[in-house]
Amino acid sequence: MAISIKTPNDIQKMRVAGHLAAEVLEIIKPHVKPGVTTGELDRICHVHITKKQQAISACLGYHGFPKSVCISVNEVVCHGIPSDETVLKDGDIVNIDVTVMKGGFHGDTSKMYIVGNPTILGKRLCRITQESLYLALNMVKPGIRLRTLGKAIQKFVEEKQFSVVREYCGHGIGESFHEEPLVLHYDADDAGVVLQEGMAFTIEPMVNAGDHQILVMQDSWTVKTKDSSLSAQCEHTIVVTDTGCEIMTWRNDETIPPIITHEV
Ligand code: CO
Repeated sequence: MAISIKTPNDIQKMRVAGHLAAEVLEIIKPHVKPGVTTGELDRICHVHITKKQQAISACLGYHGFPKSVCISVNEVVCHGIPSDETVLKDGDIVNIDVTVMKGGFHGDTSKMYIVGNPTILGKRLCRITQESLYLALNMVKPGIRLRTLGKAIQKFVEEKQFSVVREYCGHGIGESFHEEPLVLHYDADDAGVVLQEGMAFTIEPMVNAGDHQILVMQDSWTVKTKDSSLSAQCEHTIVVTDTGCEIMTWRNDETIPPIITHEV
């Protein structure tokens, strides 16, 4: 199993890339309002990444993806393609997923935005999804099975009568956008992976308000819930430390600390 262990120097570069990715999610926030198009939001992110940060969007051109960020609205689970036709309206829930490459390393993160006045269901789904990510982040430390994270996320989400998408998962990250291991958000075979200090990966649960099944649209990117129910996702890039984890893509609006430590 070729899971790379990051050196202190690698981790410093991941901190930089992760911080830049998080910054994109912060600067775009005031623009996510009723009437804006997802195409316009993508352009703002693109200019910020390329001009202000002097960095690269790892999404742009990835297997032919045409835009700099993924923007997934309401029943779109992930990989929504920003478009000038997609106009945000009051109550929409929107995921923006950003991957920045800087100094040869990647930072991958996403969060949910609620447009204007939230619906009760939209707000609850976004909150539960964020809490499921935090729950897993709080469990990360050397010596635990990777599988325990997915199991905990699934249990938490299903107790709330929501469901976890199976087809997409978190991933190792570093000099490559996607590395080993696969990080599943439900209980399934983890190939025996035990967390070690220096492993870097994303956790990015996708949670549906209805059934977990999904459909991929004809554009071959956009993923929607099969039953057209709402879907939400939250993602962080983390590195396992000697006592817990460090969140590379931590933002100022978080309700957990950037460095999580446990007695070990
Ligand atoms: Co990711």
